[in-house]
Amino acid sequence: MLKEIQNKAEKAIVEAKTLKELNRVFKDFLGKKGELSLVLRGLKNLSSEEKAKQGKESNELKESLSIKFKEREDEISLGDQSSKEKGIDVTIPGKKPLMGHLSPLTQVKRQIMDIFGGMGFEVVDGPEIEKEWYNFDALNIPKNHPARDAWDTFWLKGEEPLLLRTHTSPSQIRYMEKHEPPLRIISPGKGFRHEATDASHEMQFYQVEGLMIGEGVSAANFKAVVKQFFEKFFKQSINVRFTPDFFPFTEPSFEVAMSCLICDGKGCPACKNTGWIEIGGAGMVHPNVLKACELDSSKWQGWAFGFGIDRLAMMKYKINDIRLFHSGDLRFLNQF
Ligand code: PHE
Repeated sequence: MLKEIQNKAEKAIVEAKTLKELNRVFKDFLGKKGELSLVLRGLKNLSSEEKAKQGKESNELKESLSIKFKEREDEISLGDQSSKEKGIDVTIPGKKPLMGHLSPLTQVKRQIMDIFGGMGFEVVDGPEIEKEWYNFDALNIPKNHPARDAWDTFWLKGEEPLLLRTHTSPSQIRYMEKHEPPLRIISPGKGFRHEATDASHEMQFYQVEGLMIGEGVSAANFKAVVKQFFEKFFKQSINVRFTPDFFPFTEPSFEVAMSCLICDGKGCPACKNTGWIEIGGAGMVHPNVLKACELDSSKWQGWAFGFGIDRLAMMKYKINDIRLFHSGDLRFLNQF
């Protein structure tokens, strides 16, 4: 009789496809009124000889069935072959894979390219390791000219003087060298300066250069384009300030600032308590620069600007320390 119970139980355990079915089988054999439990309970009516024999065998069977139940339970919970055959349970919540995302600076760079792209500007690239000619000479900053001191330069060792570009302005020269006006470009990328860092200065920063050359392209035209850009970028009207400045490659030159959106113009570390944040420099392209690119400065004129992408990102997301962008701190980066 025990053999019979064993066969039935083992078959039923294997055939159980769900934990519910398996429970049912457990009850049928090992539950209070289960077949094997009844046998065990009936032992007391047997002669002591038989009791010893049957008792040993039934307890062994109970033990081996318990093990089989446990094994089957594990199989079912892990999704064995038979539950796979039933298909995928689409009601089980999925596991979200960990996805990376673009850095806030890349996001801002793309927005800038989109907005200027919409105004007909071509996006061009330039090398980060530059020749002295493109970074300085062609931009009307001759050798030994004190104006070079304005850009604390990382020079590279080697026969030909190479440097890490101190701004994106060399892109202007590289483009004008190869293209005839009228032209409209922006050139976003990295710049490097050997300077002390603080809340609004980093040794490595992102800039976007802009250049528009044509016949009769004026400063008023620049103002209109910049205003249009700011309003599209910040999705609100922005106070823009132009103040006189000096750059060897533009004449006249101006500093472009906007009212600080972090403190609403009240003053904070990001704007050094002035209420204004400098976004970059701009001006009318100097005739010497056009000449260096072999363009006729009596025919062509236009403007150029260089804006800090980090500064624009700081204003857009109200971040008061530029160093956070390069800190690699996930608590910061995951917010974007
Ligand atoms: N290249 C200048 C700088 O980084 C910015 C600038 C660009 C100014 C174009 C005028 C025109 O300091």
